[in-house]
Amino acid sequence: MCGIVGYIGHREAYPIIIKGLQRLEYRGYDSAGIVLFDGENTNLSKTKGKVEDLKRKSKVSISTNGKLGLGHTRWATHGVPNDVNSHPHYSNSGDLVIIHNGIIENYESVKKALVNRGYEFHSDTDTEVLVNLIEEVKNKEGVMLGKAVQIALNQVVGAYAIAVFDKNKPDEIVVAKLGSPLAIGIGDGEYFIASDASPFIEFTNNAVYLEDGEMAIIRLGKEIKLRKIKNDAIAYPNILELQLNLEEIEKGGYDHFMLKEIYEQPRAIKDTYRGRLLADEGIVRMAGIDQNMERFLNANRIIIVACGTSWHAGLVAEYIFEDLARIPVEVEYASEFRYRNPVITENDVLIAISQSGETADTLAAIKMAKEKGAFVFGVCNVVGSSIARETHAGAYTHAGPEIGVASTKAFTTQITVLTLIALKLAKEKGSLSEAEFHGYLTELEGIPAKVEKALESNALIETIATEYKDSTNCLYLGRGYNFPVALEGALKLKEISYIHAEGYPAAEMKHGPIALIDEEMPVVVIATRKGHYEKVVSNIQEIKSRSGRIIAVVTEGDESVKELADHVVEVPETSEPLTPLLTTIPLQLLSYHIALMRGCNVDQPRNLAKSVTVE
Ligand code: G6P
Repeated sequence: MCGIVGYIGHREAYPIIIKGLQRLEYRGYDSAGIVLFDGENTNLSKTKGKVEDLKRKSKVSISTNGKLGLGHTRWATHGVPNDVNSHPHYSNSGDLVIIHNGIIENYESVKKALVNRGYEFHSDTDTEVLVNLIEEVKNKEGVMLGKAVQIALNQVVGAYAIAVFDKNKPDEIVVAKLGSPLAIGIGDGEYFIASDASPFIEFTNNAVYLEDGEMAIIRLGKEIKLRKIKNDAIAYPNILELQLNLEEIEKGGYDHFMLKEIYEQPRAIKDTYRGRLLADEGIVRMAGIDQNMERFLNANRIIIVACGTSWHAGLVAEYIFEDLARIPVEVEYASEFRYRNPVITENDVLIAISQSGETADTLAAIKMAKEKGAFVFGVCNVVGSSIARETHAGAYTHAGPEIGVASTKAFTTQITVLTLIALKLAKEKGSLSEAEFHGYLTELEGIPAKVEKALESNALIETIATEYKDSTNCLYLGRGYNFPVALEGALKLKEISYIHAEGYPAAEMKHGPIALIDEEMPVVVIATRKGHYEKVVSNIQEIKSRSGRIIAVVTEGDESVKELADHVVEVPETSEPLTPLLTTIPLQLLSYHIALMRGCNVDQPRNLAKSVTVE
């Protein structure tokens, strides 16, 4: 989960690499580095910190000449974040230069062997081991860089997206991929390399996404040469035309990507259901479900696997699927599922949810379920991502790029897709009456306007945030459909403001968390009218009588909770299964404002990364 960028062509590489790194910073931001090559000399600059720090440092330490360049923004795995461990890394001779996203798991044994043969290491990274292994192979076997990369990669275990060049071959970059994403942008007499297409989208719409186990030799003036790392078989580049536009990956007047993405939700939800939800005709159209309807209808159960926020969307989906379509659902953390020898049969359907489509644990869970014969369906945002390709069928969320590390619009659009699937299955199974089915379609169609309305509470939420910005703990409570929303609200606060927060089912409060409640403890309670309202109101009373500070999210026009709570934020009324799409909005805004007031980096919270491509 680092970001890699490369360029070879007729332009100065420096600005392309720096800008590209800034766009990929969501993938990791504890250190960064750049190397430029003018055909004779390389120029390297690396630093602990963000790309902005690298920009400052490289301005003085690097000449901006060079039409070949590589850049890297890091999320440390092996070796602490410092200047030396930052990428790019040189080989011992100084001839080879590498950038790497991923982990070489057997690096210690390889390193030991290289040390015994006289190699020296300056960093603690697995990457420096790999570049020296490539160098050793190249010298020993007397082969070209591409072949040396291939042989070396067959000797290592792990995951990687790498780009390497050799100072003796100034017109060539060699790239390879296994488990981490790598895209090649094809311009006019120039090539771009990146972890995703955002660094090169203003230069070209044509891209090749490497498949796992593929490598490419990128040579100026020549077509890309693709081959399998394992057996040398030729692979043919599938050139895609990208739909991404520049506007989508810039802040568009907002101070932060997170705020922009929160406000984009009405549009994003509409984009998610556009062409699928035909309320007037009473139809949900989803090719991935239609073509596999029997698999879903005959499923013993649906297993949902995901991580982080996507896991919370999975929990909401569990309620929706069971409630509307009457299909048993289990929701699993992908990281637990993949290692616990689960019972999976050919009659199981596994739904993998992932914004990035690259999360290593989710990908591994998919592979395991496929091996055991389950049908695997993906719900991803990033088009062409590894999970989208690895699954048997799927549905994209179409939320557009999500850059803020804390996930917002990905969550609501995932719920939207999963609701559409549940409704489609419910219709097919007859588990909902025609009237109920049509009612839900109409209600879902109206959700974007209601999200818009929920966003109007922003100023009120900002005021509430001023009162709680110095809290050290916070409790989030919800029941039924709103229990996962409580978990997600707590996660948002933790992630970006570093306040300890816990989400709990409201009724479980009395089995532990109630001991924590005193006048210092803010408790966010989701108390919408539909969904165990009276019971949640009793919970609010219990908090009140222990002097807790209550921030309640209620249905428009609610009067009873107002009398008990310290603060009340209203959301429009909707049918119960759709409430998470509305109640999550104030919680996103609350965490945003609190984090901002605490001086935290909202878009790039410490220690986190947007896409976790390591286990
Ligand atoms: C990271 C991100 C989270 C995200 C999780 C799962 O932890 O910081 O925001 O929810 O990964 O990512 P995915 O791309 O699979 O949804």
